Amino acid sequence: TDLSRIRNFSIVAHIDHGKSTLADRLIQETNTVAERDMKEQMLDAMDIERERGITIKANTVRIDWTAADGKDYVLNLIDTPGHVDFAYEVSRSMRAVEGSLLVVDSTQGVEAQTLANVYQAIDADHEIVPVLNKIDLPASEPARVAEQIEDVIGIDASNALLVSAKTGQGITETLQAIVDHLPAPKGDADAPLKAMLVDSWYDSYLGVIVLVRIIDGKLRKGDRVRFMGTGTVHHVDRIGVFRPAMTVVDELGPGEIGFLTASIKQVRDTKVGDTITHEKRPCDKPLPGFKPSVPVVFCGLFPVDANDFEDLRDAVDKLALNDASFSHEVESSAALGFGFRCGFLGLLHLEVVRDRLEREYDIDLITTAPSVVYHVHMKDGEVMELHNPADMPDVTLVDHVEEPRIKATILVPDEYLGDVLKLCQDRRGIQLDLTYAGARAMVVYDLPLNEVVFDFYDRLKSVTKGYASFDYQMIGYRQDNLVKMQVLVNEEPVDALSMMVHRDRAEMRGRAMVEKLKELIPRHMFKIPIQAAIGGKVIARETLSAMRKDVTAKCYGGDATRKKKLLEKQKAGKKKMRQFGKVEIPQSAFINALKMD
Ligand code: GTP
Repeated sequence: TDLSRIRNFSIVAHIDHGKSTLADRLIQETNTVAERDMKEQMLDAMDIERERGITIKANTVRIDWTAADGKDYVLNLIDTPGHVDFAYEVSRSMRAVEGSLLVVDSTQGVEAQTLANVYQAIDADHEIVPVLNKIDLPASEPARVAEQIEDVIGIDASNALLVSAKTGQGITETLQAIVDHLPAPKGDADAPLKAMLVDSWYDSYLGVIVLVRIIDGKLRKGDRVRFMGTGTVHHVDRIGVFRPAMTVVDELGPGEIGFLTASIKQVRDTKVGDTITHEKRPCDKPLPGFKPSVPVVFCGLFPVDANDFEDLRDAVDKLALNDASFSHEVESSAALGFGFRCGFLGLLHLEVVRDRLEREYDIDLITTAPSVVYHVHMKDGEVMELHNPADMPDVTLVDHVEEPRIKATILVPDEYLGDVLKLCQDRRGIQLDLTYAGARAMVVYDLPLNEVVFDFYDRLKSVTKGYASFDYQMIGYRQDNLVKMQVLVNEEPVDALSMMVHRDRAEMRGRAMVEKLKELIPRHMFKIPIQAAIGGKVIARETLSAMRKDVTAKCYGGDATRKKKLLEKQKAGKKKMRQFGKVEIPQSAFINALKMD
């Protein structure tokens, strides 16, 4: 295809501002899909995404459109994931296109994810066309929102499009603006092949499907290609484009976006951001800035029923095939039996994976408290990455511990600002910036990721009645006074309940945990101390008093069947007990102790 007739773009938006609806409209308007094939939210492939209204995997579609000049154009839309956890994938897909539609709900205005995503687009040197969506609604205030875009983001919004993705108003103008305002891609068809691996996913019929953007050269079926980052060589057995159904083509040239398959078995072998070139005539340098995404949040996943362990193993293996950023290894715990220590890109990623395991594979799971990756600097100079608080080495061997910090951006209506500042302050935050965007405050905080993985989103939502928006990026590691807190039941440590905490917050956390456990652990014939401790030092303690001898005493002697029932119930309860020294703790106690509240 003639490069001047190609436009590649993505859509950036805050969740719910109408990205998917707009994409559907653009496809429909250009008859890319026959009307009868048009499903709601064409681009959101997985059910779970549809249900939650979030887009997880980047998708793409090629749209043919005849512009006002009577010429035919190819418009390639790459759909980027909308959530913070997938920031790296967003940044890669952005590098694969030259421009963005910035969709802002004209009844709402700019939100935290609008900012995060638009900055990524600006970083990638995009031409940006603002789209004010939902102008069919009475609450729409396009003039105010356009002004806000200029003030807050600092881009010209005088040519902003007035659109209703719902009614179709402004859709033709949007297509024309893409042709008029976004630059055509550049590239050299005769140069050695240089293509970017934008995304990949597993298909049970075709194996791994690789989404590529051709920068220079040509890709054809039958080519032998090298993935420069991983070093692997593959034989290309199929290439094509998405319309949005997969359509096979003979070749892909510069500026084009399409897919290849090459009998690749695992998504792990295809790293987003990698450079693809020909084995025989390679390009001299790979594309810059390739860094595979690494998991930042870890937790243990255990089957509620130990008999489900093998099923869980199958399920996590399958999931890992299709999700290179999800990691897992077998973990065993005295409290919870066999399970997996799993790594995720963030909390949403964790939730999505856990949901899929429970729903698609029908396994009831216990999730241990999420933890971040600490850098433990040992006295002997060695540095270890700590993924599980239970593995924390003896304090006497440790010099210091570093934790990951994030830069969090929160947009919130003025009236809730005080509560948000307090929340961030309570979570050991350091305020970096506070500005105003119309009637909303924009606060930027440096926060420990560890304080955010617990229940920050939920707290933020509740103190702002849902009116705040939040986004973050990792900024690096910093030393702090971090310690491992252990929980001891009758002097025996319970690994599954160990956690890393800041020394100043340890008493509070410890107290909350032992109080909760006191409620959850049944009485025994003897007194049971429940303690939270750091190293050898107890920081919080409760005592569960001993039970009176006769459990059936409260049945007032008389009713024999009631007595029998009670004893049977006790016996059944025993089965799900776990033994810690002399103490039996029901599994449900762990499940509840690990629940956040
Ligand atoms: P994510 O996929 O979660 O990022 O959300 P999104 O930005 O793709 O939003 P989506 O397209 O799912 O739209 C969110 C809601 O707004 C849906 O209920 C849409 O029906 C509605 N919506 C989208 N565009 C318009 C519009 O122009 N007018 C009106 N009235 N509603 C719209």
